[in-house]
Amino acid sequence: MPDIALTRAPAHVRHGSNIGQPLTRRDGVLKVTGAAKYAADQHPAGMLHAVLAVSSIARGRVAFLDVAAAKAHPGVVEVITPANRPTLAQDPDEKSDPFMFRLDLLQSDRVRYANQPIAVVIAETLEAATEGAAQLAPRYEVEPARVGLDAAESFVPPAVGVGNPAQVTRGDVEAGLAASTRKTAETYETPAQFHNPMEPHAIVAAWDGDTLSIDTPSQGLAVAQARLAGLFGIPPDNIHIRSPFLGGGFGCKGFISGPQILGAIAARAVGRPVKLVLRREQMFGPVGHRAPTRQTLRLGADQDGNLLALDHHTKTISSTFDDFFEPASDASHTLYGSAAIVTSHEAVRGDIGTPLFMRAPGEATGSVALESAIDEMAQACGMDPLAFRLKNYAEVEPISGRPFSSKALRECYRQGAERFGWARRPLAPRRMRDADGLLVGWGVGTATFPALMFAGNAKAVLRRDGSGVMEIGAHDMGQGAWTALAQIAADALGLDIDQLEFRSGTSDLPDAGIAGGSAHTATAGMAIHNAGADVIARLANLATNDQRSPLFGAGNAGVIARDGRLLRRDDESRSERYADILGRAGLAQIEGHGTGAADAAAQADYAMHAHGAVFAEVKVDPDLGQMRATRVVGAFAAGRIINPRMVQSQLQGGMIWGVSFALHEQAVIDPRSGRPMNANLAEYHIPVNADVPSLEAILVEERDPHVNALGIKGVGEIGITGTAGAVANAVWHATGIRVRKFPITIDRLIEPR
Ligand code: MOS
Repeated sequence: MPDIALTRAPAHVRHGSNIGQPLTRRDGVLKVTGAAKYAADQHPAGMLHAVLAVSSIARGRVAFLDVAAAKAHPGVVEVITPANRPTLAQDPDEKSDPFMFRLDLLQSDRVRYANQPIAVVIAETLEAATEGAAQLAPRYEVEPARVGLDAAESFVPPAVGVGNPAQVTRGDVEAGLAASTRKTAETYETPAQFHNPMEPHAIVAAWDGDTLSIDTPSQGLAVAQARLAGLFGIPPDNIHIRSPFLGGGFGCKGFISGPQILGAIAARAVGRPVKLVLRREQMFGPVGHRAPTRQTLRLGADQDGNLLALDHHTKTISSTFDDFFEPASDASHTLYGSAAIVTSHEAVRGDIGTPLFMRAPGEATGSVALESAIDEMAQACGMDPLAFRLKNYAEVEPISGRPFSSKALRECYRQGAERFGWARRPLAPRRMRDADGLLVGWGVGTATFPALMFAGNAKAVLRRDGSGVMEIGAHDMGQGAWTALAQIAADALGLDIDQLEFRSGTSDLPDAGIAGGSAHTATAGMAIHNAGADVIARLANLATNDQRSPLFGAGNAGVIARDGRLLRRDDESRSERYADILGRAGLAQIEGHGTGAADAAAQADYAMHAHGAVFAEVKVDPDLGQMRATRVVGAFAAGRIINPRMVQSQLQGGMIWGVSFALHEQAVIDPRSGRPMNANLAEYHIPVNADVPSLEAILVEERDPHVNALGIKGVGEIGITGTAGAVANAVWHATGIRVRKFPITIDRLIEPR
């Protein structure tokens, strides 16, 4: 068990509630001093190192591996290939639900994509394993790789995202276009992107008979546990996963990946603990990515700038052996209130690893195209792009017809525009220069993300010494879950946060659901809230039924839990300490349980989304085309803010992803070989500090009474939506050139068109 005792944040003034306070990270000191142990920091006694050999071709079969040469290396202990891979209880190509992805666990010599694992070399040292893997010198039977959006015949996918229909129609788009006096029809392309958290997938696995103990980063402990249990044919309870800290996830750690499972297979094969860490280039294949898209948007409006038609079509790619289809067109379901809307998808299959959820899957890709197209429509109408959005944003969710549970978008537009200084923006492009002669452009984008919840559980304990415990197998990907969830727990138990022991990050704790879909704080938070309410109700029952308690008979009036005491709601002078109630009842502790899940009835009645408005400034060198985002202001309304410091950080992180999407990030796949050519962080460009503009995230007050009892909507992904489009629109405003292929690079800006 790693030491996950957390340090305490420095004191902050609190005003009766932990929720809403900008507490610093409880794990912050551990992290900045290097005391926080990540998976790859574990070194159990007797541990061996495993290194993956991965395919350098994208399609074909492995004809020969020089296993003898690898084994001849003095440090090498074992080499696992499809020829000797231990049997598994389940076929890794079996798929029993849409949340289960097919894995490459050396089940055959087929190669389905570049960087697919083809062997595991286990050695006494990392160096020996690395050298042993190089000795394998694979020979392949190569088949031509099918690469890119035109790789093959396209088809309509059975579903996009997770179970969303591929095509949705509302009204008659063709009639709307025919009636429109202003029309646009343009095609936008977004590239393949790979998640690339700072911490690559890593695992330290140790077996004891049929019991498996692992350290590995996970955004979904229980799902990982179930997947491992199925593959190894052991009960889930035999698997103990520790994942106290993640160095980022972005979606690629939502499901346990093939390489992580290969680490566990290796450990079992050699009967010793094994560590396996992906090298950076090995992140570009077996652990998911964001699929490229080609999106065509046709818009029509009347002479007053009212949207009459919106047609959003997406073409994307999935792998040859599994189904994940980037739901980009779905971004047009909620934002703009066009009288007629049609969204559709088509897909091809290519020789690439299966795409996966990545940082606002669908919303990020779809909104960059939609926000560009909306800007072009505003331009066609001769309108200010903000005024056009204010005129056309949806008052009720256009596709479903449901009212929004709450929507503070107008206020986001207002606060963001005011802070940014939007009113000074000239309508025409190429009109602003800075003191150095650089072209300056301003753009706006609308942000949106659904307020999702999965299902989660928590257990609460109040102890006779006055302290409390909250247990939940939640995941801190760096976003601050340890801190924000502990704040909710302290309030749920009516305790000072220093009186609370918050246990999280391991699979033996109650299942908190997946930390994805920006749903973790709402899901885990509501489980915690309800577990707290349950234990307080049990405690109150003890007191209000006991003649010796000052709370006797308060059952109907009810009690309040605060500062370790129960107080009569109608007369707070009558109160009793938790410790005294438990003591008199002769109990050492009392426990309660709670679940967090979406309210199906409320979801049927309301469309639930977070909203925001992002304003961006870019500067462009008029001669060289060099671009830089210099200033981004986002205003976001995302329900109740548990910890404004963490939320600012989440939103700013999301806005940096947005800048990255617009200007930096792309995987370049060699059309001849199907290999990613920039599988490293030198050539796969992400913003470094020097690329990050002045960033401001404004938290717009919003009380949503319908999403959940705490009013939490989630902020993990909304920052990327809106921002990418705002930056792209700012590039147009600076230069008068509309680049419709992302990222917007210098060559695309200056190429003749
Ligand atoms: Mo996120 S792509 O749901 O981890």
